[in-house]
Amino acid sequence: MNWLHDFILPKQASTLSGNIDNLFWFITAINVVFFALIAILVIHFMRKYRRKSENEVTPHITHNQTLEIVWSVIPLFLVIIIFFWGFHGYVNAQVAPANSIEIQATGKKWVWQFEYPDGMRTLNAFHVPVNRPVRLVLSSEDVIHSFFVPSFRIKKDAVPGRYTEEWFTATEPGVYQVFCTEYCGKGHSDMLAKIYVDDEAAYQKWLLEGDEEIKTMPLPELGKLVYENKGCATCHSLDGTRGQGPTWKGTWGAMHTMTDGKQIKVDENYIRESILEPQNHIVQGYEPIMPTFKGLIRDREVLGVIEYIKGLK
Ligand code: CUA
Repeated sequence: MNWLHDFILPKQASTLSGNIDNLFWFITAINVVFFALIAILVIHFMRKYRRKSENEVTPHITHNQTLEIVWSVIPLFLVIIIFFWGFHGYVNAQVAPANSIEIQATGKKWVWQFEYPDGMRTLNAFHVPVNRPVRLVLSSEDVIHSFFVPSFRIKKDAVPGRYTEEWFTATEPGVYQVFCTEYCGKGHSDMLAKIYVDDEAAYQKWLLEGDEEIKTMPLPELGKLVYENKGCATCHSLDGTRGQGPTWKGTWGAMHTMTDGKQIKVDENYIRESILEPQNHIVQGYEPIMPTFKGLIRDREVLGVIEYIKGLK
């Protein structure tokens, strides 16, 4: 029956797919069996009780209690099975495992934007590792969209002003299609995205190096992106205003006095160290509050930040 499955349903590619498909086939089988049974009986009774001669009197038939109980109780058990099976599957599909990788998925006319815990953003495509649970936190910036991955058997609305979630564990490396499945305007049918399911090594490499965009973007531009996306902007101003941390304006090449009295010139190595080992040197007058960005920032992004700061005269 595999050919039938592959003909009717998309490829199974998540841990949720199997159960959902089995329930689907169970309900389909019940429908087929009862359709055949009822159709055969209708034809049979049409023949059996047809009027055979002009003066035949139609027999008076009332009810049959046994028969009525049988045809009530059997379907009752069937719908009870469907209910518990379906409810169990529904709950399982709603509650993401605690160790899931969390990715924010935001819909807006007519793109999907994804954001990783480290602040990295991607548009219309994202990578996940195979065999690890991924929790998607959905939201929308404008109208209702819906995030549908047929191969994973997951679908959930992305609603403005509210967070919804869905999760999956992909079971096979490959590229999977995402559809927006809530009519959201003239670009609705183009609101597509792709999920790249990588093996662990390829996923780690992608995390480390990022998309083509990050690999090719001019460095100062990349630095600006990092500044905006990874939280630098919270503490470091660009206009000389004093924040939780020193401003970036005019800091390039300046001499800073540290809490231990040491004088350090702001150069490439100092910036790199400040990002990866921020507690090593604290500028006088500031609190040692900056977290390390080790593992959260790629090498090329560090270079980007350096080049960006160089340009902030
Ligand atoms: Cu977004 Cu349809």
